[in-house]
Amino acid sequence: MEHFLNTQDWPRAGLDALLAQAAAFKREPAGDALRGRSIALVFFNPSMRTRTSFELGAFQLGGHAVVLQPGKDAWPIEFDLGTVMEGEAEEHVAEVARVLARYVDLIGVRAFPKFIDWSIDREDRVLQAFAKYSTVPVINMETITHPCQELAHALALQEHFGVTDLRGKKYVLTWTYHPKPLNTAVANSALTIATRLGMDVTLLCPTPDYVLDERYMGWAEKNVVESGGSLRVSHDIESAYAGADVVYAKSWGALPYFGNWAEEKPIRDRYKHFIVDERKMALTNNGVFSHCLPLRRNVKATDGVMDSPACIAIEEAENRLHVQKAVMARLVGP
Ligand code: CP
Repeated sequence: MEHFLNTQDWPRAGLDALLAQAAAFKREPAGDALRGRSIALVFFNPSMRTRTSFELGAFQLGGHAVVLQPGKDAWPIEFDLGTVMEGEAEEHVAEVARVLARYVDLIGVRAFPKFIDWSIDREDRVLQAFAKYSTVPVINMETITHPCQELAHALALQEHFGVTDLRGKKYVLTWTYHPKPLNTAVANSALTIATRLGMDVTLLCPTPDYVLDERYMGWAEKNVVESGGSLRVSHDIESAYAGADVVYAKSWGALPYFGNWAEEKPIRDRYKHFIVDERKMALTNNGVFSHCLPLRRNVKATDGVMDSPACIAIEEAENRLHVQKAVMARLVGP
């Protein structure tokens, strides 16, 4: 059975087909690919775009979505095997996933890290448990990667440049300041898809402590060998932005400080100047800017950048709807 847990699990031709189908759904939104089908959307964390676009996407294709928030409107769930369940959890994922799979045709899961111990969070236990026990395909709605965001981002870049082949574009993934340490998921994903599509990628971050997990750095290194792109890490803002075709921004917590965020706070506070502003964008090759959203204006990017013609964050957000319809249609099959 095919899941959609990470784009790296999918062949390049499969990703290209999803992007082509998403573009087709954008031209012709209504369809019946999910007629009589349903999806359970299991949210352990808040969402605006993901929930709305999955619910409406299923509706537009004739299907139905059920939203569940374990611990809020559904029972809290246990994930460890062998646990004596004397805590808050009322049922185990082994039952939850198998029962949901008797009702629905697809299961989407959003489960952010706990931000205490990265060695545990990097196992992506919640998503992996659903994939293990479910007898229907599982879709990653953001855990420690965000593959739906990757596809939406890729489609937005294809539309902006008017080509499906993005090889050779100079792509900067820049860390930005945020008062709190955030998930590395979108950064992991941006690095993955940009290298997969053959772009010349610079990961710009304040210090070596902000480099991403070795799994994703490893995927990126493998990808550039296969795609003909390139990868470098930079801590120098001016040289990273110089001549860039794409600037993609995201904030994330430094992995060596995972669970020890009070110690990281004064470090991150020194790098507020990583904000994406008009001066930095002026260094680019008339570059395009995007962000997954939500975004704190004048913290991560200035009003001037967000309101400029260079910003395609709204297009990218819209594309979540189209790419997720493509993913759902593909996974349920004809
Ligand atoms: N980009 C994104 O996933 O947005 P939400 O958190 O609002 O779903």
